[in-house]
Amino acid sequence: MNLIFFLKSATVKLDRYTIKDIPGSSGRLDVISRCILSVILSNNDFERNVQIWVFLNRYGTFIFNPEFFNYKYFPKNELSFTDYFVDFLQRSSNKDKPLNPLNTLKKSKKGILEAIRHFQKLNYKLFILQEQGRDFFTLLDSIQEQENIVFILGSQEDEFLNSEELLTLKIPTLSFGSQSYLASSVIRLLKLYILGL
Ligand SMILES: C[S@@+](CC[C@H](N)C(=O)[O-])C[C@H]1O[C@@H](n2cnc3c(N)ncnc32)[C@H](O)[C@@H]1O
Repeated sequence: MNLIFFLKSATVKLDRYTIKDIPGSSGRLDVISRCILSVILSNNDFERNVQIWVFLNRYGTFIFNPEFFNYKYFPKNELSFTDYFVDFLQRSSNKDKPLNPLNTLKKSKKGILEAIRHFQKLNYKLFILQEQGRDFFTLLDSIQEQENIVFILGSQEDEFLNSEELLTLKIPTLSFGSQSYLASSVIRLLKLYILGL
């Protein structure tokens, strides 16, 4: 089974970034970093057959696929990961950053709607994760039967998840209940129940 996570953020802004106050100075890039690490790391190795696509309004689309990275040098804690990711985002050319282990990160020209249509054409099953949606546990058996899935999550606000343009695509919504969880916790729950980790 291939699992792809889409995560969109309108808030990330790095003009005043300092490692001393990552949440306050980055527009909550810490939330995004936590999600990326939750998707691609497993016990002492990378997770297999997973990717996370991160859509940052101000910086573009970034594809984290473990196949692009060397586990030995990959920054595994939130602080060092975020600092390398900021370095990657703030520089325009790879030439200037010889020591960044995220140099092999792939950038995509696709916005989130185009990426959604791309995976629909490839016959992936797509789901939106939202507090108001169909009960995840009732649908778990049918989700586990899928070969290829894209899960679409919000990060800080749900503006995009509630947008007209997304609603018109009629993508089914899944819920872990009405309580609002951190996106990284939702990712862990999805991995736990679908991959049985
Ligand atoms: C912190 S929440 C987003 C903000 C929150 N909805 C609010 O009212 O401010 C992060 C993301 O995790 C997912 N999420 C959070 N709780 C969930 C739940 N109970 N069931 C399904 N997805 C959930 C959604 O995709 C949500 O956009």
